[in-house]
Amino acid sequence: MESPVYLDNGATTKVDPRVAAACVQAMTEAYGNPSSSHRLGVEASRRLALAREQVARALGADPAEITFTSGGTEANTLGFYGAARASRHKHVVLSGLEHPSVADAARQLTQEGHDVTVVPPGRDGVVDSARLADAVRPETAVVALLWVQNEIGTVQPVAAASEAVKARAPRCHVHVDAVQAVGKLAIDVGGAPFDSLALSAHKLHGPKGVGALWLKKGARVQARMWGGGQERGLRPGTEGVPGIVGLGLAVELAEAARPQAMPRLLVLRETLWAGIALARPDVRRHGDAASCAPHILSVGFPGVPAEPLLHALEGHGVCVSAGSACHAKDKKPSATLRAIGVPDDMGTLRFSLSRFTTDDEIAFAIAALTAALREIA
Ligand SMILES: Cc1ncc(COP(=O)(O)O)c(C=O)c1O
Repeated sequence: MESPVYLDNGATTKVDPRVAAACVQAMTEAYGNPSSSHRLGVEASRRLALAREQVARALGADPAEITFTSGGTEANTLGFYGAARASRHKHVVLSGLEHPSVADAARQLTQEGHDVTVVPPGRDGVVDSARLADAVRPETAVVALLWVQNEIGTVQPVAAASEAVKARAPRCHVHVDAVQAVGKLAIDVGGAPFDSLALSAHKLHGPKGVGALWLKKGARVQARMWGGGQERGLRPGTEGVPGIVGLGLAVELAEAARPQAMPRLLVLRETLWAGIALARPDVRRHGDAASCAPHILSVGFPGVPAEPLLHALEGHGVCVSAGSACHAKDKKPSATLRAIGVPDDMGTLRFSLSRFTTDDEIAFAIAALTAALREIA
């Protein structure tokens, strides 16, 4: 293979060429400020409205409920932290599987005097809905549960958990980080028991630095910025029209491809797993096949450090992530892997696929991993 086989789509994805073309077109043809009342402004504003409709349609939402942000991190900040700040109550609950944009926001809330309850997952990497609801009190302001865990791929029972939470505390705001779920799972927020949902363009073949928050009509969050009142005052600042146009199209394309692409990805993922298990029978799969989203396979290699394995694999032309219990870059243990009982001496690699992953690439990756393991063992 000439270019590397890219199996790190959980980190980011390559931009779909149709999306890139739409972004360039928006940059060159619709460069007006959407708030301007002349022709160019109106054109930019029209493209913004179209992107809002595309995102809303994919989620089963009303376009008025969509706020564009700079990505998943900001959408989580607004949906989780912003909801906590908007409430007079000072208790929040989150799962032990949250992305740092939620987990670190919870730490910040602790510093601001909030009481924070973290509900750990089971060893299967799934948070039990009843356990999450048990942590909720009548005065709980916000609960956060992510839909698909980014390191291990486990799908969380967001609907059942939200319902259980609402049964205890009907006014509690439930925020769902769906950054790894949109474009992979069927999502319909119409009638959903949660209040906000975050997504990000660069995880679904859109550009980096743009995302969105779905905020249910009537739900309240406190803005984290002040300015010209754009995005109903929730996210002021001149809108990044090219990126937003790219987000709209990327979400639409991902949704259109999903029914065919995801069953195919499941087959590819299982082929990959079978190949890895054959190369190294003592490997451990984090999260079982039935509870994982189709694009993520997280594998622990007993006694093998993740970073050297990752680089050996890279030497054989395959790019993946080290979902290790100790991230080599910052030496910080992964809270997620610890939470599901992965020992520190078990290096973990995350293989993440996309709708552009091919059969040949999976076969190549299995051969490359087999060679890399032989090299470093
Ligand atoms: C589950 C999850 N939430 C949030 C984010 C943050 O998204 P962004 O990179 O767009 O800020 C990521 C990205 O890694 C993620 O995987």
